[in-house]
Amino acid sequence: MTRSDSFVNWFRSAAPYINAFRDRTFVIAFGGEVVADGKFIALTHDLNLLESLGVRLVLVHGARPQTEARLSARGVKPRYVNGTRVTDALALSCVIEAAATLGFEIEALLSMGVANSHMAGSDIRVASGNFVTARPIGVVDGVDFQHTGLVRKIDAVGIRRRLDDEEIVLLPPLGYSPTGEIFNLTVEEVATATAIALGAEKLIFLTDTPGVLNSQGQTISELTAQEAETLLKSGKPQPEDVAFYLPCAVRACRSTVPRVHLITRHVDGALIQELFTREGIGTMVMRDTHDVLRSANLEDVPGILSLIEPLEADGVLVKRNRVLLEGEIDRFSVLTHEGRIIGCVALYPLADEGAGELACLAINPDFRNLGRGDALLRHVEQQARKMGIRRLFLLSTRTGQWFAERGFVESAIDQLPQAKQELYNYQRRSKVFIKHISDNIAAKVKP
Ligand code: ARG
Repeated sequence: MTRSDSFVNWFRSAAPYINAFRDRTFVIAFGGEVVADGKFIALTHDLNLLESLGVRLVLVHGARPQTEARLSARGVKPRYVNGTRVTDALALSCVIEAAATLGFEIEALLSMGVANSHMAGSDIRVASGNFVTARPIGVVDGVDFQHTGLVRKIDAVGIRRRLDDEEIVLLPPLGYSPTGEIFNLTVEEVATATAIALGAEKLIFLTDTPGVLNSQGQTISELTAQEAETLLKSGKPQPEDVAFYLPCAVRACRSTVPRVHLITRHVDGALIQELFTREGIGTMVMRDTHDVLRSANLEDVPGILSLIEPLEADGVLVKRNRVLLEGEIDRFSVLTHEGRIIGCVALYPLADEGAGELACLAINPDFRNLGRGDALLRHVEQQARKMGIRRLFLLSTRTGQWFAERGFVESAIDQLPQAKQELYNYQRRSKVFIKHISDNIAAKVKP
């Protein structure tokens, strides 16, 4: 493939995301480190791109290293209890100074319209304001957290109005109380509460690590909220920011936000890679959706075709054209993941002989080896039992092993039901596999 082919392919594959993201709200949270490290310039280019594609952006920034630097300049050690800062009057003044300075710096970087750069011709308008109402944490287990607060309310109406006006909303880790006090908040709490209040499409955390890591230190690409919660409860140590952000991700997914992403802040373009490719780069935490296995209908025909076409081209499956598929659609079941068809299978009963043919079992390559094939097979066996089918057979040229591992026995052609023998395609030379299905609930399946 030439460079331009792969570019064209890549751009086409991004189109569904471009369409899906238009007019949607993304809340993007990042620590003060991103600005301190000089990484924000690269990020502004990507934010600019998102803006130009019609994404409504809310940015929430932290100010931890900048606050720390100010405290240490005054010879004061920061005080944390269970990871939460105790904000006394001096610490509060450092937080305010740090957040204000950062806010101006971020605005300046977002205003950059340098000729001959990605930013040329852009004009981003930034809005900030008193969108976050806070209350004090108070005294917990004998510790008075003083000016450290929690979010009490997010002015979603006010933020939406700014977004409607095509402005980017920038929120500091601060909130105000109705009595005019200022409270120190965490970036993750402000971002999560804001994403929930806005019903944002995405909440995105820029993290120090590549994402949530498994015990081998590899990035976990996808987690449901339930899986994330189980991971947190398992007590396996996670890097500090994951430990802060992952519970927020679960909270957001359980509320109004369908997808939360944890992606590295160290890779230039990570945001774009996460958003515009199917596999992303970091960890995506999703609502607890379950795969749905159901009977197929005519609307599923295009989805089934695109699933089986590559397998037909490979010779793994027998060719079925659209018309044939439409005529036989009642025989098919589909497995969907978030509304997308990722698997299918068909069962053709031969009523008289108590036999049935399993055909066209296919799983999208991205979802293989995760037990979905087994789920489809189980489903077909259940269906067969209900229909009084006792002998399930299939013809396969290449995938016999998989079926053999699941109780199918390779058999001679004359073992096929008579009607099927007559149609046997001697050119294809498929192997015949037969499984006798018993009445009991689940036939034994090898792991
Ligand atoms: N680009 C898609 C999205 O933004 C999918 C991202 C998948 N990311 C992942 N880490 N698995 O929704």
